Amino acid sequence: MSNQRSDVRKPRIAVAGATGRVGAALLSSLAADPVDIVALTRDRQSQRLPSGPEIAVIDFDDPSTLSKALQDADRLFLAHGTSEHQVANEIAMIDAAVAVGVSHIVKLSALGPPTRLHPFDWHMRIEAHLANCEVGYTVLRPSCFVDTLARAKGPVASGTWGGTAENGLVNLVDTRDIADVARIVLLDDQFLDSQRAYHLTGPGPVSMPEIADELSRLLDRRVTYTRRSLAEHREVLVSSGASEMVADLLLGLDRIFREGVLAETTMTVPDLTGRKARSAADWLLDNREGFGPTKQTTAA
Ligand SMILES: NC(=O)c1ccc[n+]([C@@H]2O[C@H](COP(=O)([O-])OP(=O)(O)OC[C@H]3O[C@@H](n4cnc5c(N)ncnc54)[C@H](OP(=O)(O)O)[C@@H]3O)[C@@H](O)[C@H]2O)c1
Repeated sequence: MSNQRSDVRKPRIAVAGATGRVGAALLSSLAADPVDIVALTRDRQSQRLPSGPEIAVIDFDDPSTLSKALQDADRLFLAHGTSEHQVANEIAMIDAAVAVGVSHIVKLSALGPPTRLHPFDWHMRIEAHLANCEVGYTVLRPSCFVDTLARAKGPVASGTWGGTAENGLVNLVDTRDIADVARIVLLDDQFLDSQRAYHLTGPGPVSMPEIADELSRLLDRRVTYTRRSLAEHREVLVSSGASEMVADLLLGLDRIFREGVLAETTMTVPDLTGRKARSAADWLLDNREGFGPTKQTTAA
């Protein structure tokens, strides 16, 4: 019996975006599983490449590199950094995967309404393309990543944190939870042909002033979130080095927070993983370095 088992080929999983936030967490999540992994990257020299898995270098301008990287892959996890090339690149990757016979694609998308705001409109276009492909897929639509709060580290440390989110609520999701769900879906042999979508959130919504209160507790000093007008905040973002595209994305995000667009709570993370979703407070505790000194270190 044991000889027969060793002859069984392990599922081969291609991970696009392996050097990114969710992709890297996915590789950690899959580390102990009986699968072969190939990590796709545009940059073989990337400092963020994982040391364990096989690496395949891709060039989106040369589709043959995508087919080659995906050859023999059974499943594909598809994440792509936010970029104006995202729609074309993801569609090229999906087409290459379908052409070489990948049986299931797990696409990282975004939870949100149909809108012209980037990146939601980009994901709508990619999902619409996927819907017309003869392939099983799972679209993961997470709410805003809790890692977005890392952008507040410098401003919190210098006492200048603010924005246009007011008291709006958002249910921030931890990228480790997204990765854990992606792992479960990628390892699922039961519904390979299925076409489905999962909506991923944290355990409950929070506002930016509540995040400031949580930071005040953690750092034992007063942290505030200053309310700004749109024009004031755009000026702060651009003068701190953000491109116009990034400033637009961040103002769009604040609007989504302000209007409570991503405040809903779903049970997908607990239902699939069997444990509670990580909260924003959990993330702040694990990532408090960089938000500036605690009262004790200031006093010392
Ligand atoms: N941030 C949020 O709050 C949020 C919320 C919901 C959904 N999302 C979605 O999640 C996705 C991003 O996931 P992530 O944060 O894990 O990704 P990420 O860390 O920003 O990037 C993932 C990888 O994409 C690869 N990539 C390929 N072409 C690229 C290009 N032209 N520009 C930038 N990167 C490129 C890069 O790998 P190589 O350099 O190795 O090729 C990069 O490491 C986006 O689709 C976004 O819309 C984000």
